[in-house]
Amino acid sequence: MNDIFRSPLTMDGKDPSNLRGDPIDAERYFSKEFAQKEWDHLWTKIWHIAGRTNELQEAGDYIVHDFMHESVIVVRQQDGGLKGFYNSCGHRGIRLVSGSSYADEFKCPYHGWAWAQDGSLASVPDADNFARGNPCGKIRLREVRVGTWGGFVWYTMNPDAPELLDYLAPFPRLFEAYPMETLIRVYQVKIDMRSNWKFAPDNFSESYHVRTAHPQIPSFIDQDHWIARLEMFPNGHGRTVQPFRPSLRDRLPDGVANPFDGLLREWDIDPASYPDFETKVSQGWLDMKAQKRRLWKERGFRHYEHMDDEQLTDSIHTTLFPNISITFNPDSIFLMRTEPDPDDPNCSTFDFWAMAFPVEGATHSETPMVGDEKLPLVEAEPLRRSFDQGRGVPELAGGVIVQDLYLAEDVQRGLRSRGYQEPYLANSETRVGFFHEVLNDYIAGRR
Ligand code: FES
Ligand SMILES: [Fe+2]
Repeated sequence: MNDIFRSPLTMDGKDPSNLRGDPIDAERYFSKEFAQKEWDHLWTKIWHIAGRTNELQEAGDYIVHDFMHESVIVVRQQDGGLKGFYNSCGHRGIRLVSGSSYADEFKCPYHGWAWAQDGSLASVPDADNFARGNPCGKIRLREVRVGTWGGFVWYTMNPDAPELLDYLAPFPRLFEAYPMETLIRVYQVKIDMRSNWKFAPDNFSESYHVRTAHPQIPSFIDQDHWIARLEMFPNGHGRTVQPFRPSLRDRLPDGVANPFDGLLREWDIDPASYPDFETKVSQGWLDMKAQKRRLWKERGFRHYEHMDDEQLTDSIHTTLFPNISITFNPDSIFLMRTEPDPDDPNCSTFDFWAMAFPVEGATHSETPMVGDEKLPLVEAEPLRRSFDQGRGVPELAGGVIVQDLYLAEDVQRGLRSRGYQEPYLANSETRVGFFHEVLNDYIAGRR
């Protein structure tokens, strides 16, 4: 087996003594003043994801990422590199482009200035009509810094931000076994929510809510808090590692098939070969690791090649400070992200990208990606929906994501109550407190 790597940066995410104990006031979820501080001290300082690297295959391919009132373009260059620009014409400021596409040059729709793929000004109409001389060679599009990790294209508006891989540390090392650039995004949706963006980092920093809010999960992901490994890292990131097997105390009634049995059968293990439930759960989980090691090559599961024993059989749910969550499963990766509304702190958008690893000879994802559906292994067109009490995303009905999104809007309502009290956190919610402490550090300019 490949050794399981533990980063020296790891702090115990179940130990509240790792917290200062900052209060979590409710105003931060709805006050415009706090949202302005987040813009000034957080969003303009951190790294953002613009899209996937496979959207930028040829020179001139570009991604547009709108964030609050800002918009950024990332363009594949002739030399194969990437450059990023603010989406604002250098003549009189109009937004240059809307959706992601391809361009030989960016021709402004207002007065026709033509910007080259590298952000230089290629030509202007009536170049002899400027008292200060032809602007070509004098003016460029304003740049943002760009980087790549995990098959994602990142940018930051902050000239002084740390290098991307340092900002993400220790994730690049923790997840280097996954060939993330081969992922196929088989489903992507952006959902308008009536909730502050911080619902998601709060929610994804703990799995304490799972047994109540997602009653279908404990029969296939162990939810016992003494089993889960909760980790947090100095940059504000964190992860929860839980085995893909039922918790021993979450037993389905006799006669109801356990989803774990199906997982065992997929790897040619007979669930009936174990004398009792306990043995099936503990030994079956170990047998599944061994069986995956034995069979991955002949079954074309190339993405298993460098995975360690934990990655082969566990659910690894991460939070990337501040607003991104990535779930690493053996055969798929899910990205969840919230971004604030430009004007109303009570609103945000929620992105859900379901990505699958290709398996040789397979036409569909190995595991269900949306509802019970295994989706075709092709890049999906982006969807834009309004949550509308779940009615806007019928294909997600009954699933884990929608269960969380219902909570998001009710949390927002409850937080505005005069009855709101300081949270009384469980040990396994330590990362919720840590998220707010790192956020406070940014707001105070300490990061
Ligand atoms: S604003 Fe772009 S050419 Fe005038
Ligand atoms: Fe949840």
